[in-house]
Amino acid sequence: MSRQILVTSALPYANGSIHLGHLVEYIQTDIWVRFQKMRGHDCRYVCADDTHGTAIMLRAEKEGITPETLIGRVWDEHTRDFAGFHIGFDHYYSTHSEENRELASAIYLRLKEAGLIESKTIAQLYDPVKNLFLPDRFIKGECPKCGAADQYGDNCEVCGATYNPTELKNPVSAVSGATPVHRDSEHYFFRLGDCEAFLREWTTSGTLQSEAANKMQEWFASGLNNWDISRDAPYFGFEIPGAPGKYFYVWLDAPVGYMASFAKYAADHGLDFDAWWGADSKTELVHFIGKDILYFHALFWPAMLKYSGHRLPTAIYAHGFLTVNGQKMSKSRGTFITAESYLAQKLNPEWLRYYYAAKLNGSMEDIDLNLDDFVARVNSDLVGKFINIASRTAGFIHKNFGGKLADGVANIELIGAFQAAADSIAAHYEARDYAKALREIMALADRANQYVADEKPWELAKKPEAVYRLHEVCTVALNCFRLLTLYLKPVLPKLAGEVEAFLDVPPLAWGDAQSLFIRHRINQYKHLMTRIDPQSIEAMVDANKLNLEPTPAPAPVRHAEAQVHAAQPATATPASEIVSIDDFARIDLRIARIAHAEHVEGADKLLRLTLDLGEFGTRQVFAGIKSAYAPEALVGRLTVMVANLAPRKMKFGMSEGMVLAASYPEGHKGEAPGLFILSPDSGAQPGMKVK
Ligand code: MSP
Ligand code: ZN
Repeated sequence: MSRQILVTSALPYANGSIHLGHLVEYIQTDIWVRFQKMRGHDCRYVCADDTHGTAIMLRAEKEGITPETLIGRVWDEHTRDFAGFHIGFDHYYSTHSEENRELASAIYLRLKEAGLIESKTIAQLYDPVKNLFLPDRFIKGECPKCGAADQYGDNCEVCGATYNPTELKNPVSAVSGATPVHRDSEHYFFRLGDCEAFLREWTTSGTLQSEAANKMQEWFASGLNNWDISRDAPYFGFEIPGAPGKYFYVWLDAPVGYMASFAKYAADHGLDFDAWWGADSKTELVHFIGKDILYFHALFWPAMLKYSGHRLPTAIYAHGFLTVNGQKMSKSRGTFITAESYLAQKLNPEWLRYYYAAKLNGSMEDIDLNLDDFVARVNSDLVGKFINIASRTAGFIHKNFGGKLADGVANIELIGAFQAAADSIAAHYEARDYAKALREIMALADRANQYVADEKPWELAKKPEAVYRLHEVCTVALNCFRLLTLYLKPVLPKLAGEVEAFLDVPPLAWGDAQSLFIRHRINQYKHLMTRIDPQSIEAMVDANKLNLEPTPAPAPVRHAEAQVHAAQPATATPASEIVSIDDFARIDLRIARIAHAEHVEGADKLLRLTLDLGEFGTRQVFAGIKSAYAPEALVGRLTVMVANLAPRKMKFGMSEGMVLAASYPEGHKGEAPGLFILSPDSGAQPGMKVK
């Protein structure tokens, strides 16, 4: 029976880039959605950027742009990164939408009618310079328990104590540096405590993983606090109806963003919103989230839905956190890896999809991306086992049989075993135990490889009397390959598409596993996947280290701005593309001391430089300045380098940056007096930022 399933992933914050940690979630969800679609279910996948709150407001202010411009830019960036990893949302929206404003307001008003909203005056820390109530994360001071300096307003990283920001000693506003003052303000609260009986019952309804249900018991035991859902202006968000100057706290409208994204999608595709979100909806609603946001999804969200007359989630699937090489992702170790930097190294996104899938088992345990294991695993499973089956047999079909598979196969035992695995592999995908699914699939791949190794088609091809056997063996092997592709398709959608083109078959659906693949003409085999080069992994880690400071994300030129620029006189810059200040700020220019310089054997333009960046270490750079400088003349000099240039593998080694030099552009008329590297005025120190 066909199911109707609405699936969501948590809405990423619009104040940061997508990184490999986030991708655990989006890849996990995307695999599940693709699997459901292959099964023939009516499955829709929606998400959005989470755009509200003080942090986004302040960041926009710092960049000198409106919050709307900022979230528009980040939306472009996020959707580009997700597309890069083949995350196939049916709709990706923004919480800053009219639909979301209406739905959040309507839900709030229903909760109010139900007597679940109360107001209370509370004292909070206020920045008298910025005229702003300060969120916990924007206050620093001394820990009230152990006295450690420079601690955030909510907990102490030294002794682990949690407290109220008003308890901090000698607090300072992280926004202005001013001493915050206590100020009273009226806040609105959601009476979560009143929902306890409902929540206790709902917890045992099978919606949650057992680990999550246990966590809930701990929360019930420590008592449910009423939830502060309002914030005072200035705040980037939605004003609360009937409460001028009060805004919904970002976490109130964020989950409503799931609904709003679907509402827009439903309107565009003629779906009935109420059939999916109404109190007696028969569809499934499945939320994928990280374990850190369970509280919001398992307590606040079901209570909000229930008491505003909506349906409840069918399942909440929480996953663990990503570690890299066994440790928390770290900017200084270069393991805080952005999605963009992965793609910039031309690493194949399906390698990461495969590796994550091999580690995900449907529990809330953390998962580790071990970079050496990543290389070994992907190369051995995908290239060594899977692709190998086609690359060792497809050629014969073309060379000897005009591209056509055999009309039938005598021995279908092996194919039968592959077909018989369909149900059990499906059950593992359904249960989000992708690790088990892939173990089973790879065990099949081993059997197919063993078959090819035993039958040795390359030897059969030498004996004219074995021509039928050769045809059969290659046909059996390609049947196995087709089934492996089908089973791997939720994880490797792009590769599967390429295999479909090679086999010349329509998109594979789960039911196709039961058909035999014979009497069919296939296309020429072209190599389908390369091995991971460990050097590009190193380069990626280096590139993330090189980002010495967080730099703002790129600013795609939006139409309004482009027009303003076009209206400027053409003489404003030498004929070149105009970039925004944000574009410029992305380039990390640093003062470097040339610690060492030498000729490069076999290169007529290059010098190998070792650049000293002071506290940020050294970099090797190949610079095309040999025509202008003798190496000895450079050693000890200060110059300017681009420190966050993606490392480039050259014939002679890695180049980890670029030194800046002046020369006339190509096509310049008249005498070209040469090349001049830049130097700072005296007193500049290695590692200083150039802006
Ligand atoms: N904006 C909220 C979610 C609102 S949902 C109504 C949020 N955003 S987030 O950008 O911080 O995280 C988005 C998702 O990515 C969350 O589910 C979070 O758990 C997940 N992850 C973020 N960092 C992660 C890792 N390092 N590892 C695994 N998942 C991680 O929370
Ligand atoms: Zn402390």
